[in-house]
Amino acid sequence: MTVTVGVLAETAPGETRVAVTPEVASKLKALGAAVLMQSGAGSLAHFPDSQYADAQFAPADAVLAGADVLLKVQPPALEEIAALREGAVAIGFMQAYARGDVVRALRDRRITSFAMELIPRISRAQSMDALSSQAAVAGYKSVLIAANALEKFLPMLTTAAGTIRPATVLVIGAGVAGLQAIATARRLGAVVEAYDVRAATKDQIKSLGAKFVDTGVSAEGAGGYARDLTEEEKAKQQAILDARIAASDIVITTASVPGRAAPRIVGEAAVARMRPGSVIVDIAAEQGGNCALTRAGQTVAHGGVKIIGPVNLPATLPFHASEMYSRNLFNLLKPAFANAELRIDWADDVFAGAVLTHDGQIKHEATRKLVEGN
Ligand code: NAI
Repeated sequence: MTVTVGVLAETAPGETRVAVTPEVASKLKALGAAVLMQSGAGSLAHFPDSQYADAQFAPADAVLAGADVLLKVQPPALEEIAALREGAVAIGFMQAYARGDVVRALRDRRITSFAMELIPRISRAQSMDALSSQAAVAGYKSVLIAANALEKFLPMLTTAAGTIRPATVLVIGAGVAGLQAIATARRLGAVVEAYDVRAATKDQIKSLGAKFVDTGVSAEGAGGYARDLTEEEKAKQQAILDARIAASDIVITTASVPGRAAPRIVGEAAVARMRPGSVIVDIAAEQGGNCALTRAGQTVAHGGVKIIGPVNLPATLPFHASEMYSRNLFNLLKPAFANAELRIDWADDVFAGAVLTHDGQIKHEATRKLVEGN
C-alpha cells in the first residue's frame, strides 16, 4: 500500500518554513510515497503550490486524515494530533522539554513521533541534523541583523576622505551558529574574534580567519557539548571576556548547553563598558539569553548599546532554511522506505535516538520523566 506523506501549512506564530519543498516532494514520490499537502503550505517560504509537480493538494483535515507520515517544522497542534490516524508517524521539532501537552497527546493517540532535535550527532546522521542546518541559518542572519543595526561600516575602506577602520566583531559560542556567524562577519570585512569554552573550537575559529580569545579555561564535555563551568573558572573567563566585549562594535552570542537555560555570559556591567552605538545580537534569546539585558523578540537600548534578542531566526530565511530542513527530513526517512513501504528499523541508532513516542508510550527517557514523573 502506498505510504502517504502529509504536509501542513505551519500555524505557529511567525513560522514561515515548510517541511517539504518541491524538490523533496519529488524525491519522496520517487521512493514510492504519495505526497499530500495542504494548499499554500509552502507559500510563505516562496514555494507556491504550482512548483510542487509531484504533490497533491487538499484541505488540512483531509491531509491529517490521509497521512501515514506527517512532516512538520514545529510541533503538531493538539487538534492536529487528534485528527491524525492512530498509529501514524509524526516528525518535526517537537520541543519536548517545553511541550508536555503535545507529548502526552502523541502518546495517547498512539502516534509514533520523532523529534528532529533528538537525532544523535553521529557522523552518519549529519545529513539529517536539522539543529545544525537551522543553526547555520541563524548564525548567518544574526550578523546581517547586527550589521544593519550598527551605524558604522563593517569593512575597512580606503577612500579619498581617508581610511575607515574595520568594525570589530566578537562571537561568543563557536558551535554551528557561531562558526557561520564568524564566516559571515569575515565576508563583510570585519575584524573577528571568537570564544568558546571548548578548546576544540580554537582551530576551527582560526581556520575561518578569526582570532581565538584565550581565557585559559576549557570546558570540554561529553558528546562534543560543553559542560557547566566551576565558579572559579567562570570568574577567570569573565574578566578576560568582559575586556573583549568592551572593545567590540558587535557581539554575537550563540552559547548554549543542551537541556539547560542559556549560560549568562554578557552581564550588565560589561554592556556598560561598550562604546555607544555598539550592538549585541543574542541568538540564545529564546533560551533565556546569554546577555542579562536580552528580551526575546525585542531590541533593548542600554546606555547607547542595542541588545537585540531575535526569535526563530531560521524563519526569517524560510526559502533556504526549508530547503535544508526538508532534505534533513528526507535523509532521515529514506532508509525506512523499502518497496514503497515504511519500515522503521528500531535497531538503528538514529531512529532509536530520535523516537519520542511509540505504541502508546513515551520512549525518550528524559521526556518521560519530565511528563510522567518518576
Ligand atoms: P550548541 O548550540 O549546543 O552550543 C553552541 C556553542 O556554545 C557550543 O560550541 C558550546 O561549546 C558553546 N558554549 C556553551 N557554553 C558556553 C560558555 N559558557 N561560553 C562560551 N561558549 C559556550 O552547539 P551546536 O552548535 O549545536 O554544536 C555543538 C558541537 O557539536 C559542535 O562542536 C559541533 O561541531 C558538534 N556537532 C557535531 C555533529 C556531528 O558530529 N554529527 C553535528 C553537529 C554538531
